[in-house]
Amino acid sequence: MNLDFTQILPSIPYILKGIGVTLQIVLIAGILGFAFSILLALFKISSIKLLSWFADAYTSVFRGTPLVLQLMLIYFGSPQIFGFQIEPYAAAILAFSLNSAAYISEIIRAGIQAVDKGQREAAMALGIPYRKMMSNIILPQAMKNIFPALMNEFITLTKESAIVTTIGVTDIMRRAYIVGGEKFSFFEPLLIAGLIYYLLVISLTFIGKTVERRMRRSD
Ligand code: ARG
Repeated sequence: MNLDFTQILPSIPYILKGIGVTLQIVLIAGILGFAFSILLALFKISSIKLLSWFADAYTSVFRGTPLVLQLMLIYFGSPQIFGFQIEPYAAAILAFSLNSAAYISEIIRAGIQAVDKGQREAAMALGIPYRKMMSNIILPQAMKNIFPALMNEFITLTKESAIVTTIGVTDIMRRAYIVGGEKFSFFEPLLIAGLIYYLLVISLTFIGKTVERRMRRSD
């Protein structure tokens, strides 16, 4: 195997700039997806049939079709959906938020249902209103339990974000690909991209473990 990193050395800063792009998409989509997923999870456990049906159907569709398809549908279909062409960056954030919400809502639903039902009964016996019970009693306990699963979703999102390359977002992946085309050698820049993704995931794992330990200490 012959590897020659010397010729792509000057292009490494260009590839590294993609880290900001990738992290921005993942962070914004993660936060938006999380917020939406709380709503979906509450719908799922709701006694109102229409709401739980909608939330279940939502997860079924977004989990049942490829993310790269959803991304392309939103990007290329935006003139027909919204009446104007949206930026690739916006399409990426939208697609990842919607997709992630489908997955996170399942995690949160399971987390809520895993909280001892005595907590709910006690809150109801004390006459605490539903909103207060959820936001002050049930959800905080659920969040603690589901934290590792949420971190997992965040890691998945980081790696999956590489597909934004298909709609032209210059993330880590696309930059490595561009450098490969310029230098007529794809192997080395792609290896660099792989190393960057791996280091990102390792860092996320480390942050996750640290936060988890802190949470447990507060028990
Ligand atoms: N490659 C899978 C797909 O296309 C992953 C979906 C994203 N996964 C996630 N946990 N958000 O369906």
